[in-house]
This record gives sequence, C-alpha cells and structure tokens, in this order.
Amino acid sequence: MAEISISKEERERRIAWWREAKFGMFIHWGLYAIPAGMWKGKLIPGIGEWIQFRARIPVKEYEKLAKHFNPVKFNAEEWVKVAKDAGMKYIVITAKHHDGFCMFHTELTDYNIVDATPFKRDPMKELAEACRKEGLKFGFYYSQLLDWHHPDGAGNDWDYDPNKKNFTRYLEEYVKPQLRELLTNYGPIAIVWFDIYSPTPEIARDLRAWVHKFQPDTIVSGRIDPGRWDRGIGDYVELGDNEIPEKRIEEDWETPGTINDTWGFKSYDHNWKSSGVIIQKMVDIVSKGGNYLLNVGPTAEGVIPEPSVRILREVGAWLKKNGESIYGARASPIDTRPEDPYKFTAKPGKLYVHVLAWPWNGELRLTGIKSEVDKAYFLADQTREALKFKQENEEVELHLGEKPLDPVDNVIVLEMSNEGWP
Ligand code: GLC
Repeated sequence: MAEISISKEERERRIAWWREAKFGMFIHWGLYAIPAGMWKGKLIPGIGEWIQFRARIPVKEYEKLAKHFNPVKFNAEEWVKVAKDAGMKYIVITAKHHDGFCMFHTELTDYNIVDATPFKRDPMKELAEACRKEGLKFGFYYSQLLDWHHPDGAGNDWDYDPNKKNFTRYLEEYVKPQLRELLTNYGPIAIVWFDIYSPTPEIARDLRAWVHKFQPDTIVSGRIDPGRWDRGIGDYVELGDNEIPEKRIEEDWETPGTINDTWGFKSYDHNWKSSGVIIQKMVDIVSKGGNYLLNVGPTAEGVIPEPSVRILREVGAWLKKNGESIYGARASPIDTRPEDPYKFTAKPGKLYVHVLAWPWNGELRLTGIKSEVDKAYFLADQTREALKFKQENEEVELHLGEKPLDPVDNVIVLEMSNEGWP
C-alpha cells in the first residue's frame, strides 16, 4: 500500500462531486478508429486501440493514418448531449492514448490532430466548451507510461531499442509539458485519467504533484499508482477493465466499462450489451460503492456508433425516473449474494430496493432491515398507492403486486424516519 501524502481533507474536497456523480462517459477516440480492427485486410484480434501493438505496425506506417483522419461529422455538442441524455455527469476522453497520437493541439510534437490531419481542429477545445455549457465535468485520459510513437516512451520494441530509451527524458521533456498544456489550455479539468501504470511510486507522486500545481482540484485516477493494488496515490481506486467486485469496497472506486468488447472503434464488434445489462451493472456497482465510467468508441468520421447512442438513451430514460436511487447514493447497507434478485442502495432515511427479477407471487421478503419502515413505494411512479408491507423485527414482507413497472429494475423506496439506519 502506497503512502498517502496528501491530506485527507484535500482529497475529500476534490472527490466530493465525483462521489455523487456515479456515472460518466469514457471516450476512446484516435487514429485507431480508421483501421477499426483491420490491418492490411486482416482482422486484428483484441481491443481496437491496441492495433498498432497487436499488428506491430511500424511508426512510419501508422503515422500515415493521420493524413486520412478527417472526422467531419464530429460535433462536440451532440456528443455531450448523448452523455447528458444518458444521465452521465462527467466525460473522460483520450487526449493521448498508447499510440502516442495527440488528439489535442500540442507544441511538443506535430503528431497531433491540428498539425497532422486535414481536420485541423482541436476537438478537445470544443468538447471542453460544450461540457462547460451543459454542466458536465470534463477530463482527459493520458497514457503516461506507454507511448508507441515516442522513442523514449514505453512499449514499442519493434521500432526502438528498449535499451536506448530514456524514460526520464520522456517524462520531463514530453509528458510533463503536455500535461501542463492540457491543464492550462482547456479550462477546469475535472480528472486526469492516467492508465497502466506509473513505473515507480516516486514518479506517480511527482506526476500527481505536477497536475495539482496547475489545478489543485483535478482528480487523478487510480492507475497513476505503480500497480493495481497500490492504492493511495490516485484519488480513487481504478478497478480492472469491466471488473465488478464481489463485495462492497469501502473506498472510492470506479469500474471502466465497455458497451461492446472494445474501447476504440472496431467495425466488426457488434457484441453490444443491452441497456438492461448496463443498468444492472450500474446498480451492482453503485450498490457496492463505486462509479461506472462507460465507454463509447466514435468512428473516424466522428460519430458515436448508433447502437451505443440507442443503449445510452435507454439507460438515460431509466435514470430519469430512478436517478434518485443512484446519484449520491451510498453502498448497500445489507450484504447481498450475487444470486439474490435484488440489490440495495441507500441515502439517509431511505433504502432503495432494486428489484431485478420480479417475484413469481408478487411478494418480496427482505431481511436485515434495521429501522422501522414508514412507507414503501415505487420510485418511478409515485402517483400509485403506497405498497402494503408487514414488518417484524428486521424482516419486511412487501406486497409488490403482480406486474413490474419496468422490465429491468423496479426501485422500491423504503422510507424510515429513524435516524442512524440506513
Ligand atoms: C486498458 C487498455 C487501454 C484502455 C483502458 C481502459 O488499460 O490498455 O487500451 O484505454 O484499459 O480502461
């Protein structure tokens, strides 16, 4: 466990909005959207943004993609609207992914979207502005370790001799100046989402301090830490990709998730999760105390794939009615087992019962309810009569009725006037 050198108050102040937000949009967008999972007529397995590595594409060849990157359909306001309608409260987008191509205007290299592509615009500027307008928080993903384009970055051993690399030089003369640009040219940056992993705790701490030198309120992701379980340098724990823990975690944490099986766009990945699955994952995550950062991978034309947009819209419709049980909600005060057809989230005086499978007889028996319940009702339709229930000690039997309101998750609110639980 890495030592925590920032004060608890400082972190609490920084993370407060994030803790309430619960649901954010991850965007993986870069040159890899052009090959979209295919190189020289071959399907390249694995996640789309790793294509340069998986196909060992020489820098000189991969670089040429920039000349063809012209996302004329890109519209920052539309993207932000997709996120907002989905009920997402923050956006994190790849400023520089492992391929090293900079999706922002930088003085440090011409290998960036403004100087190297026919597009010539800085989409990060446009997105930052659109987010500000719509009241969403805006953050950057930045690959601090891997950079397959930079001769001193880690990961590319097919163009560069690893023994000749000078990581310190890359860090001091490239990474830090770029972070300074990202933290000074784009307004308030809510998050810098570092990825796998800083090489040492010293470097991680140094990077964190560097970020805070420019913007003390910027949250840094858990993958700034040198290893997966070295919690402490990042502001929160970043779980593995698509990983949902078995049990509640008593820290701030986030699951980055894909809607299909890739982050960067792949033309032939149609394995979309349904909105129902996404909602259930979100509820599962929030009931265990986490945040869900759900990814979209726009095309090289600048379009968020239609299935993602549709799925997100459906998730947003559910959140519109049931958001009270998600935003600002605390983890479940009751342990559930994976096979239980319900999950809980909580706020002071309210226990939200997420009924994920409707009981065959319309009755639901809950145990471990430690306060006296005053009232029970459907969150999504409060014009309905309150639900009948019986309580004996810690057991509550709810008469839900025959039919669910919602095909995925029916949230029942148990209201209690007792202080202290949940
Ligand atoms: C992994 C991958 C990367 C992706 C990230 C998202 O670390 O290397 O491509 O950006 O997960 O969580």
